[in-house]
Amino acid sequence: MCGIVGYVGQKQASEVLIEGLKRLEYRGYDSAGLCVCHGGRLNLVKTAGRISALEEKIAGDDTIVAGTIGIAHTRWATHGEPNEANAHPHLDGPGKIALVHNGIIENYVTLKKFLQDKGYEFRSDTDTEVLVHLVSEFSRGGEVALETAVQLALAEVSGTYGLVVISADEPDKLVAARRGSPLILGVGTDEYVIASDASAILEHTANVIYLNDNEMAVVSRDGVRTMTIDNVPVSKEIQQIEWSLEQIAKGNYEHFMLKEIMEQPQSASQAITGRLDLREMRVVLGGLTEISRELAKVRRIIITSCGTAWHAGLVGEFIFEELAKIPTEVEYASEFRYRNPIIEEGTCVIVISQSGETADTLAAVREAKEKGALTLGFVNVVGSTIARETDAGIYLHAGPEIGVASTKAFTSQIIVEILTALMLGRGRFMSQSTMEQYIRELDAIPEKITKILEQSDRIKEIARTYSERENWLFLGRGYHYPIALEGALKLKEISYIHAEGLPAAEMKHGPIALINDGMPVVFVAPRCETYEKVLGNIEEVRARKGKIICVATEGDTDIEKLADHVIYVPDAPVPLQPLLTVVPLQLLAYHAAVIRGCSVDKPRNLAKSVTVE
Ligand code: F6R
Repeated sequence: MCGIVGYVGQKQASEVLIEGLKRLEYRGYDSAGLCVCHGGRLNLVKTAGRISALEEKIAGDDTIVAGTIGIAHTRWATHGEPNEANAHPHLDGPGKIALVHNGIIENYVTLKKFLQDKGYEFRSDTDTEVLVHLVSEFSRGGEVALETAVQLALAEVSGTYGLVVISADEPDKLVAARRGSPLILGVGTDEYVIASDASAILEHTANVIYLNDNEMAVVSRDGVRTMTIDNVPVSKEIQQIEWSLEQIAKGNYEHFMLKEIMEQPQSASQAITGRLDLREMRVVLGGLTEISRELAKVRRIIITSCGTAWHAGLVGEFIFEELAKIPTEVEYASEFRYRNPIIEEGTCVIVISQSGETADTLAAVREAKEKGALTLGFVNVVGSTIARETDAGIYLHAGPEIGVASTKAFTSQIIVEILTALMLGRGRFMSQSTMEQYIRELDAIPEKITKILEQSDRIKEIARTYSERENWLFLGRGYHYPIALEGALKLKEISYIHAEGLPAAEMKHGPIALINDGMPVVFVAPRCETYEKVLGNIEEVRARKGKIICVATEGDTDIEKLADHVIYVPDAPVPLQPLLTVVPLQLLAYHAAVIRGCSVDKPRNLAKSVTVE
């Protein structure tokens, strides 16, 4: 979604800002803009479309090139179409104050009316523009300090924001504030970089301050002051970003998505490392030790998340019920908050999120806490809001996921669920020998994933055969039903092919009507208790001339008689099978999208981190 970068230091600000925006490109955007202060003036450039178009506009503009302080933004349209007028930064009437904003101002209609009545003219359709006029109103033509004007303006606002403001009257200062939309402040040597995502900061420094909700920072060439938006000083700790610049680069891969699919043996290892004690044969989850007493009392689990993370939750439902014997439900985070969920004593709410910033998931955490649940976060981004707001949690340690389509985070989410379920199960009824069997099998997973990845070229040929078909079905049963959903989601989001995922047996209750000559139907059909039943479903599709692509267990030659194509995965205990069966489906979607000429890492309309509800 929208991205923010702000810079104050010795360097040419426009270069730092453009570089920062490029690092945020993966989050999804449809317009961009930048404002640099130089010679007592704010110099603004905006464009619809790509950052490269912004660069072209800036080239040779001396007023922009000379400045060493500025703000920049990539916008993902919510209020108003993606054109130049709606792009940020927004300027006040006299052109003295500029502002970039992520989030949504819920009472903008009322505020707009109030400002219009006072004679303010609006140039855009955005909710954001009210903010800059409000700050302008309270600054009284520069008489009031910028931070005070921002505080007074924010006191009038309801909604969410991460914002940075600059004023021509105070040309060495940036004011940043946050409520519900992340902002991080990079503290370099003689320079500061403010951004909505750590990847825009890493090139300059790994030392960062995470702003919490309702906090703000006044950043100048001499230092930083932090306070609440009500002006109560707060002292903030400088923390370290864990990721390296190399990790956020594409390396030799054509796309981040492929790199991240291929990284899964390492990301899976990282999720396991230090957590499987192979000598004592036990699971050690440091993030949960402090709440071990509360965990022992858990009688019911609710998993809540969105998109791919929700699919990981659906796999988790099977895992927690089978390995820990704890009744588990899964809720879309966007629905959880609004259905007044029943939280009783002993309810543990697990939230799963790669980014740790998804607005719906965060709202679900807050709802669960409000109702007294124990909340656990299974999150990838260290220091993210969900990681900080949950009672305890386990980091995925998958490394940065830049491709919009989530891949390696998904496998790590499932691993963390398995680890937690094993720990809970062993504390209740699970025998040590069962535990040892799972520990050994989990330890072998990274190598098994490597074997699947070696089949990438074959999977590409299957994708090529059907890449022009506009409708696909993905079917699976039990643990493999969520994998069918995930396979369908991956295909539709990056290749724009319509795909549906279903429990295989549900097909005959309606969707079977869709099957026609040559329609690709993907079956997730490894050896498990429902295998024979799935064979029956395959026959049903064959009888209607659908084309059958099966993901099956190595050595299962019987399935070749029924399928048009078989992709083999190594055998594993059923709860671990989703870690393997999803990998060919990620590759299938990736290759189909590339063959269709789609923008794999930045699919249309999508954002990496959905920070609006
Ligand atoms: C799909 C995808 C999304 C995310 C969803 C939740 O490939 O990436 O469906 O899984 O937006 O995001 P996080 O995990 O960051 O909360």
